[in-house]
Amino acid sequence: MKKPSFAVACRLLISALILAPLCHISLAQAAPPSNAQLASPEINRKVEALLKKMTLEEKLGQLAQFSAGFATGPGASNQHWDDLVAKEQVGSFLNVVGADATNHYQHIAMEKSRLHIPLIFGLDVIHGDHTVFPIPLAVAASFDPKAAETVAHTGAVEARADGIPWVFSPMVDISRDARWGRIIESNGEDAYLSSAMARAWVRGYQQGDLSRPDSVAVSVKHFAAYGAALAGRDYNAVELSPITLRQVYLKPYQAAVAEGAATMMSSFNSINGVPATANPLIMTEILRKEWGFNGFVVSDWGAVAELINHSIGDGPTVARKALEAGVDMDMEGNLYGTAIAAQVRSGKVPESVVDEAVRRILRVKFVLGLFDHPYTEPGPAWEPTPERRALARQVAGETLVLLKNDPVEGVGKLLPFAGKTKSFALIGPLADDQRDMQGAWSQGNPQYVVTLRKALEERLGADHVLYAVGCGLLSGKDEVILNHASFGGSAAPSGSNQIPDDAKSIAEAVETAKKADVAVLALGESADWMEGEASSRVHLGFTGKQEDLLEAVAATGKPVILVVLAGRPLQIKWAGEHVPAILEAWSPGVEGGYAIADVLFGDVNPSGKLPASLPRAVGQEPLYYAQMPTGRPATGIDLSHIPTNSDEKFHSRYVDEENSALFPFGWGLSYTSFAYSTPEVSRQTIPAKEVMASGHSPVIKVGVDVRNTGSVAGTEVVQLYLRIPNVSVEQPVRELKGFTRVALAPGESKHVEFPLSFDELNFYNVDLKQVVEPTAYDVWVGGSSLATAHTTFQVVE
Ligand code: BGC
Repeated sequence: MKKPSFAVACRLLISALILAPLCHISLAQAAPPSNAQLASPEINRKVEALLKKMTLEEKLGQLAQFSAGFATGPGASNQHWDDLVAKEQVGSFLNVVGADATNHYQHIAMEKSRLHIPLIFGLDVIHGDHTVFPIPLAVAASFDPKAAETVAHTGAVEARADGIPWVFSPMVDISRDARWGRIIESNGEDAYLSSAMARAWVRGYQQGDLSRPDSVAVSVKHFAAYGAALAGRDYNAVELSPITLRQVYLKPYQAAVAEGAATMMSSFNSINGVPATANPLIMTEILRKEWGFNGFVVSDWGAVAELINHSIGDGPTVARKALEAGVDMDMEGNLYGTAIAAQVRSGKVPESVVDEAVRRILRVKFVLGLFDHPYTEPGPAWEPTPERRALARQVAGETLVLLKNDPVEGVGKLLPFAGKTKSFALIGPLADDQRDMQGAWSQGNPQYVVTLRKALEERLGADHVLYAVGCGLLSGKDEVILNHASFGGSAAPSGSNQIPDDAKSIAEAVETAKKADVAVLALGESADWMEGEASSRVHLGFTGKQEDLLEAVAATGKPVILVVLAGRPLQIKWAGEHVPAILEAWSPGVEGGYAIADVLFGDVNPSGKLPASLPRAVGQEPLYYAQMPTGRPATGIDLSHIPTNSDEKFHSRYVDEENSALFPFGWGLSYTSFAYSTPEVSRQTIPAKEVMASGHSPVIKVGVDVRNTGSVAGTEVVQLYLRIPNVSVEQPVRELKGFTRVALAPGESKHVEFPLSFDELNFYNVDLKQVVEPTAYDVWVGGSSLATAHTTFQVVE
């Protein structure tokens, strides 16, 4: 092994000095390894033995990943893959799917190469594989980590059968800007919820044991802070204060690492001027030294080569910077393979840096059992099984959020449908669209998807469901003007995306509505064209002529129930003010139609809560409840309830719109109602020192009684919010620090307790230290971020 050259040593010293003030915690003792299996001495002996036999080129081959199947990014490479594998110049493929395809390459790797090192195949399994579950944002709306585990585990089983032991999931980027298309893959705006869900996704995929045949290694993405892209524009730069970065944005990745995540994926964005993919603070100091991460980091697609566009150097320079920063595998960049060897030979890059990256990758391959079981048993053609469909329906049922259910004069509440409703008009481009129900990032075959039309027709008989498409999802050139192809690459909008004559269809829909007792409208956005990666939007309303359709049908006077199908919080202000019943249904997956019908008819009492705030206007974005206080708050908007005179001009608000969300974080109604007692604390005061020493162990409990005051059984997501006022760094007006789902029969009451430890009570001070300072904490408990049941406790000297 070569010693680092003088130049390298100087560079490392300089970067250590620059980084030191930003990462004081790294000066503390290194954290223990995050994944015990990867730290196994036996595995490490095997890795070292193999490493000794490898040439530099073979080592660099392990760091190279290519897409040898379909493309999920620009400029996919096309090479003689068989030769490359035989020469051990590739360590991993993505987008090669199925036993036949993966076995083909694996046989070459295991039988024709010198060292017989298996390939690791990676794939974006985002919300189930063949059995498509609701999108991750919807799963977050369940506030049920068990639901995320179910989705992840089902995806793991199906992926393994497809020859995939490694999934590019979960995506845990905090997403506070609905303009950003990738909010669909996230757990929404909140650090606490996202962290709980991040852990659950990792548990579900990895099963706490990477050697199991039903587990897959995760790749937690996109590290780091990709969701804070400026202006909600995908791939854009990120500017975040070091405190917010740590206190909010890094939390879910850290939680995933603590759960044993085997790999991470670097993000495309820069963070405060340093691209994440070449960022030693993020990739090494924080991830490895502070958090003890002992898996490997793969770049996002082409992210190493794109550092050239970030203008931090030419090809060899950016390859070196990324590798030295701690990005081990180069996805679809082909730079490590072509630009590192010469720099190792010249002494510019220490071979030890390459060795370390190879070790990390080989460890994961060993722990997954790929050396012993490299192949996949070919199975039957895929079709979601009844058991998995049942799981998808159950999870989808938990993800639906009843936003509004106001009584209509002379009719009462529209939902759930009572027996007296005999005929239904079902209207809208998403009422019978199999493809869009699945949402973005779906491998599933749309032919298995149950639409709302099918579900209603089965339930009521086709005669009782009067269907009209109403209009297209897109109205021609306007929405797709800058987006020449859908994500899947289809050349033209498909299904109900476009129809010949919107005006005529709207008129027909109005006539249809007039013939029925109620009108159910299924509106939203196109999964293919407007959700997910590279699908940022500046207009967040319904696409095409759907808003016209909604208003025209509402004008008939027929009671309207709006079902929103979208991958992001849409701006639905008019509906929020004029439509009596609104159900947020996201992109609900293969059983979506049944799940929606279950809720509309009351077989399932809705319990979902919003994981991201719905805006009144796009100009409010990024919009989230955990805002920092302002010196000039406006009444009723600032959740800290600081009284002000809102009629005065000089306050922090818009002149043309309210500050508040149309529907805020944590919001969601039920067919029953819940009452909360005043919360009580197990002790009034706690010494700060005791909190500081508590780590994950509770130092105080907040208890509350929750009662079902209605006449049907229901599940409430009980939420606890904290505020830490009067400390050295201002803190958000409130932050979620606990939640639990509580099932209650009519009239039943349950006592719920939230244990709080240092984890929930600390904040980052200006020195970036996690601290607790003496103050009176505010506590609110309730069914949304507007919770009002309040108490306090003191942290004292
Ligand atoms: C996306 C990643 C994805 C990768 C591989 C990239 O464009 O940003 O989320 O995992 O492609 O498909």
